[in-house]
Amino acid sequence: MNIILLGPPGAGKGTQAGSLEARHGMVQLSTGDMLRETRKANTELGRQVADVMDSGQLVSDEIVSAMIDAKLGSMPQTTGAIFDGYPRTEAQAVSLDAILTRHGRSLDHVIELGVDEDALVDRITGRYTCANCGAGYHDRHKQPEKEGVCDKCGSEQFKRRADDNEETVRQRMQEYRGKTAPILPIYEARGIVTRVNGMDSIDVVTAALDAILT
Ligand code: AP5
Ligand code: MG
Repeated sequence: MNIILLGPPGAGKGTQAGSLEARHGMVQLSTGDMLRETRKANTELGRQVADVMDSGQLVSDEIVSAMIDAKLGSMPQTTGAIFDGYPRTEAQAVSLDAILTRHGRSLDHVIELGVDEDALVDRITGRYTCANCGAGYHDRHKQPEKEGVCDKCGSEQFKRRADDNEETVRQRMQEYRGKTAPILPIYEARGIVTRVNGMDSIDVVTAALDAILT
């Protein structure tokens, strides 16, 4: 099974992809996470990627599609892929079709997480992750069971993303509306789009995704 999770910044793509990975044996392919790894390197590419991400704009189609192609090439064909934050433009959607064909895969579902943009600013500015294992948390909506200790790995170190400030979030939303939302009709024409209410609680959204995948 290969699925795309589509939705604006803060819609819950990463949260739900992590949960699907754990319960369905699928692998999350987040171009945002891959780019955050790239920007850690002190290289010309790392610096370029960091500048683009911190401005809230999109990194070039060629860079992200090459990352997805390489990741799929390293995965067994029978392991399902959850595309999180990719594709984000029409050019990326076209590339994804070619990449999937090359790796003997096809798309089963495109799941759109529908959300209210004002609530997203609250979600994103409250978000943080475990600095050791990457598990995601939120100041109000998803706290660790024991305060200050990661539920998954026990680390006491947490971090916040550089692009999670209100100004950058507004720019990221504008990119979503202008470049990403317009790719939905491509998948609607294939009859593979399902809309899920991303304003429901995390557990209710998870149950809705389970119902689609089973
Ligand atoms: P990326 O990392 O993909 O960020 P994004 O799309 O802006 O989405 P987010 O990761 O912010 O949100 P999410 O939907 O994963 O929400 P989450 O689950 O964390 O991209 C970052 C940048 O990289 C881009 O701006 C661009 O520059 C570049 N980039 C990446 N991919 C690219 C591509 N393909 N092409 C070009 N450039 C690319 O949830 C948010 C918070 O809310 C969490 O704290 C969570 O706990 C909480 N939460 C989640 N669900 C709920 C719920 N139902 N109720 C209450 N709280 C919830
Ligand atoms: Mg994410």
